[in-house]
This record gives sequence, structure tokens and C-alpha cells, in this order.
Amino acid sequence: MGHRLSYLPLDFIKHAIPGRYDVVWLSNVLHIYSPAENRKLLRNIARVLAPGGRLLIQEALLHDRHDLAPLGANLFAVTMLLFTDRGNTYSVREATDWLMCSGFQRVSLLNMKAGTGDWEGGILEAVR
Ligand SMILES: C[S@@+](CC[C@H](N)C(=O)[O-])C[C@H]1O[C@@H](n2cnc3c(N)ncnc32)[C@H](O)[C@@H]1O
Repeated sequence: MGHRLSYLPLDFIKHAIPGRYDVVWLSNVLHIYSPAENRKLLRNIARVLAPGGRLLIQEALLHDRHDLAPLGANLFAVTMLLFTDRGNTYSVREATDWLMCSGFQRVSLLNMKAGTGDWEGGILEAVR
């Protein structure tokens, strides 16, 4: 499928993203960065999404009412704290706050069948 792909050589936090998109798939990136950097990235994505466009986030998100589970995502936070300068595992609540402050209208957690996706718990969908 390579002939259907094109690439943009840029830093998607520091630089404006060119183009206009109906869907953006953001997979396993938020855990690398600080909350401030993630808000900047989400604002950059919101700017290039068409009205009604969707951002789909696959991420190690905590999503119980104490922001501690699932266990795999929680333990992954230790790896991020040990091996990155600013990374962490974030909760659905935090990510939703960032999205709502970054130009998105509606955020929901799409449940996935067990065993699909990289992490337990689903995909976070945000509509522009
Ligand atoms: C943990 S990997 C995830 C790879 C893939 N998206 C996945 O889910 O398997 C993070 C990816 O984000 C890219 N990345 C991280 N920060 C970036 C930035 N500021 N600008 C562009 N790409 C970045 C890295 O190059 C890497 O490919």
C-alpha cells in the first residue's frame, strides 16, 4: 500500500502541520510528552481537521474512577518516568480536558473488543 502513503518531515509539536484532514490517527504519542506539549500537539491537530473531522487516539490511558487502571497502562507510567524526561501515563479525564481546551467539541471512549488494539480500554475519539 506504500504508493497510497505520503510523508511529512516535521516536528508535529514545534511546527504547523500542513494540509486538511477528515481523520487523524494519533497512536502511542501522548505518553512521550508533558501535559503542556500534549495540549500544543492537540491544538496543532485541531487546526488541520475539517469541521466534524475526527481525531482517534490509541494510547495507554488510565480510565477507572481513581485513574489507576488498567494495570498495564499504570505500570507503563513507571517505564516512562524512568526512561523519558517528561513522559507519563495519562488518564482519559486529563486527555479529555486537553481536547476540550484545544478546539474539540465532543470526546468519547470507544470500547474495543478484548484483544484488539495496543492497550486495554479503547480508543479515545474527539470530534472537531
Ligand atoms: C512510541 S512511537 C509510536 C509509533 C506508532 N505510531 C505506533 O503506535 O506504533 C512514537 C512515534 O511518534 C514519533 N514522534 C514523536 N514525537 C514526534 C514529533 N514531535 N514529531 C513527529 N513525530 C514524532 C516518533 O518518531 C515515533 O514514530
